[in-house]
Amino acid sequence: MNLIEVKNFYKSFGKKIVHQGVDFAVKKGECLGLIGGSGTGKSVLLRSLIGLEHPDQGQVLFEGQDITKLSENQLIDIRKKIAYVFQGGALFDSMTVYENLAYPLRAHTKLPESEIQEKITFQLSEFGLQGTESVYPANLSGGMQKRVGLARSIILHPDIILYDEPTAGLDPFNTKRIQEMILQMKSKGHTSILVTHDMPVAFAVCDRIAMLMNGRIEAIGSVDEIEEKSNHLILQFVQGEIR
Ligand SMILES: Nc1ncnc2c1ncn2[C@@H]1O[C@H](COP(=O)(O)OP(=O)(O)O)[C@@H](O)[C@H]1O
Ligand SMILES: [Mg+2]
Repeated sequence: MNLIEVKNFYKSFGKKIVHQGVDFAVKKGECLGLIGGSGTGKSVLLRSLIGLEHPDQGQVLFEGQDITKLSENQLIDIRKKIAYVFQGGALFDSMTVYENLAYPLRAHTKLPESEIQEKITFQLSEFGLQGTESVYPANLSGGMQKRVGLARSIILHPDIILYDEPTAGLDPFNTKRIQEMILQMKSKGHTSILVTHDMPVAFAVCDRIAMLMNGRIEAIGSVDEIEEKSNHLILQFVQGEIR
């Protein structure tokens, strides 16, 4: 079953045409990789999936419902089910790690504090971040901040997680930890889209990889299909032969 479907998606900014007929679908439980050169519109596409950007033409279907037609109020429900892990993954600097993770739980649920605490303790330990509860973001390394940011994004257990370059600028250790976090969420059945330039990570966690080029999905295939064919368009892109 397709959880997300993007159909004939067009988007321009002024004279700049970014998307001209993007089509793809994401199945329930799948992790779809989305690659493409800088400025090809990967982030705009992700933002469109939660109604933060609006296509000039086309449809964005979530469980069969076209979200481009929804009001801001109706989008609130959609945004509870789809988490967008921003490129920066910004934490609130004036709050501890605990307060940062408690924030979405307090804003969107009526859970008693004891259960909020339980959830936070569990989520932090799942991701190897136990013991950081009372630390302020400024006192964490950049890599740890990203991992806490990811933990906060998924603490409401959204159906779908959109990762926008989650490992950009991270050292190998933290990249590996983020990769494990993504795999862990996938093993629990969460559906995801991973925008990344980090091909080892994409090949390790994605079921299929799609490439955005010339305003469209120019190539899409399973990781096995891509690795099998030495002249696959996606391999050519990955190897820096085309842009
Ligand atoms: N709000 C905006 N106003 C004008 N141009 C924008 C806006 N958002 C994105 N763009 C342009 O759209 C193109 C695609 O942006 P983006 O989705 O951020 O690319 P990517 O994430 O693939 O690097 C870029 O050329 C960018 O400058
Ligand atoms: Mg981007």
